[in-house]
Amino acid sequence: MPRWFNTAGPCRPEMNYTLPTARRIPRVPELIDQQAYFVVHAPRQVGKTTSLLTLGSELTAEGRYAAVLLSMEVGAGFPDDTGAAELAILDAWRGAALSRLPAELRPPPWPEVSPGRRIGAALQAWSRACPRPLVVFLDEIDALAGDVLISILRQLRDGYADRPAGFPWSLALVGLRDVRDYKAATPGSEADRAGARLGSASPFNIKVRSLTMRDFNAAEVTELYLQHSADTGQIFTPEACARAFELTQGQPWLVNALAKEAVEELVVDRTQPITPEVLDAAKEELIRRQDTHLDSLAERLRETRVRRIIEPILAGRRCRCRRMICVMCWIWGWCGGLRWAGWWSQIRSIER
Ligand SMILES: Nc1ncnc2c1ncn2[C@@H]1O[C@H](COP(=O)(O)OP(=O)(O)O)[C@@H](O)[C@H]1O
Ligand SMILES: [Mg+2]
Repeated sequence: MPRWFNTAGPCRPEMNYTLPTARRIPRVPELIDQQAYFVVHAPRQVGKTTSLLTLGSELTAEGRYAAVLLSMEVGAGFPDDTGAAELAILDAWRGAALSRLPAELRPPPWPEVSPGRRIGAALQAWSRACPRPLVVFLDEIDALAGDVLISILRQLRDGYADRPAGFPWSLALVGLRDVRDYKAATPGSEADRAGARLGSASPFNIKVRSLTMRDFNAAEVTELYLQHSADTGQIFTPEACARAFELTQGQPWLVNALAKEAVEELVVDRTQPITPEVLDAAKEELIRRQDTHLDSLAERLRETRVRRIIEPILAGRRCRCRRMICVMCWIWGWCGGLRWAGWWSQIRSIER
């Protein structure tokens, strides 16, 4: 069965056209070998989850580590109740371990300890029981805020001294912000209050490195599109690949969205090539559908440092970057001739 361009969450290479993920996070294996606790931060839809999911299964398959991506996202449902957030997170972790790790590497029953200790105690018990060094990537860390976030970061710091026998060998926090940036969060928001209470020394001040991820380059856009040509015989002309890079500047989700629109909606006959004109039409359709993440844009816009940059641009009704979509300061928004004013009024209506 031919694979397809994915725009809904992490890519699964057996089903979706996927660029090799190792080169997207080249420093990470070395940090893991050095027992590092580190941060991977990048805007939404760049490939953080895809890359770390794949790295986890590759490292585990190599046999040296038990490496797994675990999500913090469900904790967001309990912003004022650390104990309940911990229980929800641990429940999700058990599910993830069940589907991502062989039986002998899965966690033992979670210890029964008081709220505010559950995550630390769980990682401690798992590290002790696991026959291999445990490596965990904690995804969607930004989903947590306020007391829950502070409690969990403190538990990680507390356990750090006991690694590798009594706590994970290596650990990454994965999200939109570097941890120190929680202090730059929305004024008055939960994250902001957490930031203020973190003070100058973040509870996660044990991290040794903070990494980010780049967009695709022009050669990688072509490489991804050629996977479709190899699977289906449908050609992307060299000019079309160049046009796709020009339109997207390599933003991974957009690169996929543009091609998906072209091959699944506009030119379904696989004997017909994808040309720059087809991609231009796909771009128009994406703009018409306003297929972006306006809610997260509105959230970012409330941050003081983002406002400082974006407001003069909006006042001039003109963006200085040449992307079809602007990810300046992690903002998703349509640029230049793409009707700033219309987007702005929509964003304001979401804010209200
Ligand atoms: N290695 C990759 N190859 C091709 N497309 C990718 C790759 N990684 C990410 N993408 C694109 O980016 C989108 C978001 O990926 P995801 O891993 O969920 O990002 P994040 O966790 O940073 O939000 C995917 O739906 C896909 O369109
Ligand atoms: Mg993700």
